[in-house]
Amino acid sequence: LFSFKQYFQQEALPYDDDQEGLNEQIVFTFSHVVAKNTPKGLAADKFAELVYEKSDGNIKIVVFPNGSLYSDIEEISALQEGHVDIIAPSTSKLWMISPAWGVLDLPYIFPSYEAIEEGLDGPIGQSLLDSLKGSNMRGLAHWSNGFKQFTTNKGPIIYPEDAARQTFRIMQSDVLAAQFDYLDVHSVKESFNSTYDLLDSGKVDGEENTISNIYSKKFYNLQTHLTISNHGYLGYAVIMNDKVWNEQSAETKRILTEAMEETTRWNRKHAIEMNEEQYELIIDTNIQIHELTDVEKQAWMEKLDPIYDDLAPQIGEKLISDIKELKQ
Ligand code: LMR
Repeated sequence: LFSFKQYFQQEALPYDDDQEGLNEQIVFTFSHVVAKNTPKGLAADKFAELVYEKSDGNIKIVVFPNGSLYSDIEEISALQEGHVDIIAPSTSKLWMISPAWGVLDLPYIFPSYEAIEEGLDGPIGQSLLDSLKGSNMRGLAHWSNGFKQFTTNKGPIIYPEDAARQTFRIMQSDVLAAQFDYLDVHSVKESFNSTYDLLDSGKVDGEENTISNIYSKKFYNLQTHLTISNHGYLGYAVIMNDKVWNEQSAETKRILTEAMEETTRWNRKHAIEMNEEQYELIIDTNIQIHELTDVEKQAWMEKLDPIYDDLAPQIGEKLISDIKELKQ
């Protein structure tokens, strides 16, 4: 198999005799599927920059954006098998590793950005990261994108029944599929990077995503209607191959941990700003936008509420009630 590590090591900095401890450049590959100009894309680049600085150029993270290395459908097994060192899949895609992650996909699970931080930075977030351990995955952090919206060519979507009988592209999550079943929407679990073509060819009518993904992938050019529904959360788990992590020196682990903490703080703030800024840019395009009123939102919550009970046995009653507690 072609080794990206060896390839990038050829560009390593000259060997520094005076440097103690780290004496050969360490290279990690980091694959993700979104554009550079997104909360995850910028955070990945910032992490690489910080690691490089903190290690005086001895540790290099080579970032592959836009699914150029692996699609979101391939990246988890590529990481587990050691073909790539770091990935940051949306948490929806971790359902198949541990169903507890499905809690983050429940409709309207987080009422605000504050609740997201409280949940993910506390014991709930840690227990989710820990649930990856048995799968050769080391959860390093939770990065945020924001809340998802609906886009479609068969709009406007204002009440839940407006989406009925449409076809939507969704992420690889049974929790999301269950929600679309309740809406009587035919959902197809296809990769993020195929979404543009699926919309363009008319194979799907719509999709759900954050403003930043809708903007950076130009979905707004292919869709007539956007509903600001904030109906679900989209965040990422930053994950390293556990074997690779365990092989690192204490110094390398310290640098990676410090850089990750700094990047995560930066990402949380930046993600909010970015979705707001890019929303202003979408307003100037031809897509028609409807923002749900409180009454309309209530109708969506009521329609989707039974999912909580349906999926509690798989996700875990306690986890769901712990997250609900955060809202008080
Ligand atoms: C999607 O598949 O729609 C998103 O998860 C893409 C991403 O990583 O933000």
